[in-house]
Amino acid sequence: MCCAHGAETLVKEQIANEGWRLAFSRPGFVTAKHDQNKRPPTGVFIRTAARSLGSAKSDHSSAMIQKLQQAISSETVPFDQLHVWPRDRTAIGRFDFEPGIDEVSAAVADEIWAALHDGSASNGPGLTCARPNQIAENGQRILDVVLVDPSQWFFGTHEATTLPTRWPGGVQPIEPAYEPISRAYFKAAESIAWSGFDMRPGDLAVEVGSAPGGACGRLLELGMQVIGVDPADMDPRIADHPRFIHYPARAGDLPRRVFRGAKWLLVDSTVKPDATLSTVRNMVDSRETSFRGLLITMKLGEYENATHLERWCNFIRTWGVERLEVRQLARNRCEVCAAVTLPA
Ligand SMILES: C[S@@+](CC[C@H](N)C(=O)[O-])C[C@H]1O[C@@H](n2cnc3c(N)ncnc32)[C@H](O)[C@@H]1O
Repeated sequence: MCCAHGAETLVKEQIANEGWRLAFSRPGFVTAKHDQNKRPPTGVFIRTAARSLGSAKSDHSSAMIQKLQQAISSETVPFDQLHVWPRDRTAIGRFDFEPGIDEVSAAVADEIWAALHDGSASNGPGLTCARPNQIAENGQRILDVVLVDPSQWFFGTHEATTLPTRWPGGVQPIEPAYEPISRAYFKAAESIAWSGFDMRPGDLAVEVGSAPGGACGRLLELGMQVIGVDPADMDPRIADHPRFIHYPARAGDLPRRVFRGAKWLLVDSTVKPDATLSTVRNMVDSRETSFRGLLITMKLGEYENATHLERWCNFIRTWGVERLEVRQLARNRCEVCAAVTLPA
């Protein structure tokens, strides 16, 4: 399992309760064994999970690739995709660190692919993909290689099911057309994709905690009308956009009629979850509003505060929600995202 650097204690606690015996781990990377033939665990803080095929440790990549070939030699069906990525080397945002494929893992991916792909000299089960680190299709079988360190690799396999399981390392591959205004652009893009919300051009979306405007940039890029609520200034590229309106206020201080007709609500304010959820409840629980989907960032501050998650989720459920899912997105710092579907 891979998770954010710092979230491994939560992952270990969760899986230990499910009967997993903990094995090798490092910050951002956890392995475990089970007596029964169980599927790899899933959970709020588990970004990726795979069934282990072994590991290799060496200063020479050729020796590790050989070990990988041995590890997969008993597999009879070729792999559809090859995903190679590093574990998170530090907390997201620290020293500007962002998760995902780095230069070393990209080079390793090319080397492994060259050795294993169909048509290579290998006698193993092979790989059918034309390149490594492609987004997998639903149902495809993926060969995973996690660089716990450049000289220590773990091999595994998983089947692509949900969207994050299709992304290499569970990190959404995205190439913005323009330089994003803030990293919240990526967070918003990931939350929108993961939630599966049917956001369409022309829909009205509100963001609470919108400054400087990374997430609003993504919503505008998707063709939506956008209302940003934040006492702080918006970047002029967003503030001057013809489909954007800024309310320089705290969300709780605005009359509900301001949000009339809005279908989607994103919340990313630097406010504790209890206060955030009470503001959102007031916005949702009004005859003036008709939100269909909410993407709420709940700032934990410390991972210990994850003990409140159950209580926060129970509070959200009192709003009569149709669906509630919570995940620490790959782009989330010490925070989680709640995707809430409300009845039409
Ligand atoms: C993490 S930043 C948001 C980044 C933003 N989503 C983006 O895409 O660039 C948090 C913002 O929450 C705002 N904020 C704090 N309390 C607020 C409140 N009660 N209502 C609205 N915004 C609030 C802060 O002014 C700050 O700009």
